[in-house]
Amino acid sequence: MRMYDIIKRKRDGAALTTEEINFFVDGATNKEIPSYQISALLMAIYFNGMNERETLDLTFAIRDSGSKLDLGGVKGIRADKHSTGGVGDKTSLVVMPIVASLGIKVAKMSGRALGHTGGTVDKLESIDGFNVEMDAKSFAEAVDKVGFAIVGQSATLAPADKILYALRDLTATVDSLPLIVSSIMGKKLAADDDCIVLDVKTGSGAFMKTLDDSRKLARMCVDIGKKAGKKISALITDMDTPLGNAIGNSLEVIEAIRTLKGNGPKDLTELSLALSDEILYLCGKGTREECRIMSKNAIMSGRALDAFANMVQNQGGNRDMIYNVDLFPRAKFSRSVKAKESGYITSVDAEGYGTASLLLGAGRRYDGERIDHSAGIVLKAKTGDHVNAGDEIAVLYSDRDKFDEAEEKLRLSTIIGERAQKYPLIIERVE
Ligand code: URA
Repeated sequence: MRMYDIIKRKRDGAALTTEEINFFVDGATNKEIPSYQISALLMAIYFNGMNERETLDLTFAIRDSGSKLDLGGVKGIRADKHSTGGVGDKTSLVVMPIVASLGIKVAKMSGRALGHTGGTVDKLESIDGFNVEMDAKSFAEAVDKVGFAIVGQSATLAPADKILYALRDLTATVDSLPLIVSSIMGKKLAADDDCIVLDVKTGSGAFMKTLDDSRKLARMCVDIGKKAGKKISALITDMDTPLGNAIGNSLEVIEAIRTLKGNGPKDLTELSLALSDEILYLCGKGTREECRIMSKNAIMSGRALDAFANMVQNQGGNRDMIYNVDLFPRAKFSRSVKAKESGYITSVDAEGYGTASLLLGAGRRYDGERIDHSAGIVLKAKTGDHVNAGDEIAVLYSDRDKFDEAEEKLRLSTIIGERAQKYPLIIERVE
């Protein structure tokens, strides 16, 4: 078999065989296929797509490209929640402690910031001493002992995804449906959880900008998960506006802690409860109504907050910061952004907000750049709110005293007009 022929067939619109897809993924993983040929095939897939069978084959090939996560010693049901990526999305930090406090085992592998979207691993590193690196044995022990552990992506789990993703990022082929589906589900299936709940984002801050594409993404992921024998469902949720009020690493952790204490923003609380209910329901903990009562009680009783603090302490982090958020370091500089005109915030470009936060130091402009954990944005007004000229709409935080570019980006991303236009947060559920 020759890579040249595979590229040519996909370029001409043919469906690739299972053998061809396995040949491609094996060769990419073992570095036998050069990156220019991998990139050429990715572009051909971007333009000509893949049918269901090809997408399933690609997902399974990515899943099988490395070792599976072996958590054989962990007793109980294991669940995971995965978001397709958004701005201000800190739901993992709220949902995972809620379900862990109710006896579900959580072995979470999370990513770092990607483009305009934040990453859970970077957020957690804003807690003093927190360690996101553990070998498989310590990870399994942590999950068994504390019920909940969060680490960075393992190099041995679905390594093909790492190679393909890096090239997609450089060749403008990230936003292709079969490539996103196989990337997400290849990793999720290698992690081998019993239950998976997907939060498929839709809108200006998401990789899938239209509801139609988000529906297709959710449907394909759920179908593949079912074929692999998993209990799986997806919520399609709004990412036309950032989630909660905080964007940036420590600011988001603080907001997640407030939500675990019952004082979080309405949208973040609503989505976190919905995702928790969904996991509990899939794991067979009760009816939907019972699951909602359990999730709410986990917050009200303080048990979810304790589960978070236990996980932090077990991974070397300062537990006291979870109970006293004043211990988080604050940025050296801040700037208040005020509305120049009166009206309703009719729409925002969430991706623009994510980019403004990145410019303040909360994300990476190039691979390996140091992150400023206290940098970011706190929104004082969101889509649908009325503001008067001179009202504060956001506060920017950074350790560099350079705010102009970020402020400009934020202003260009905020449309003030006569009419408020707000979308529902949870758009639909896909089973
Ligand atoms: N998240 C992933 O893991 N992969 C993608 O391709 C997009 C979002």
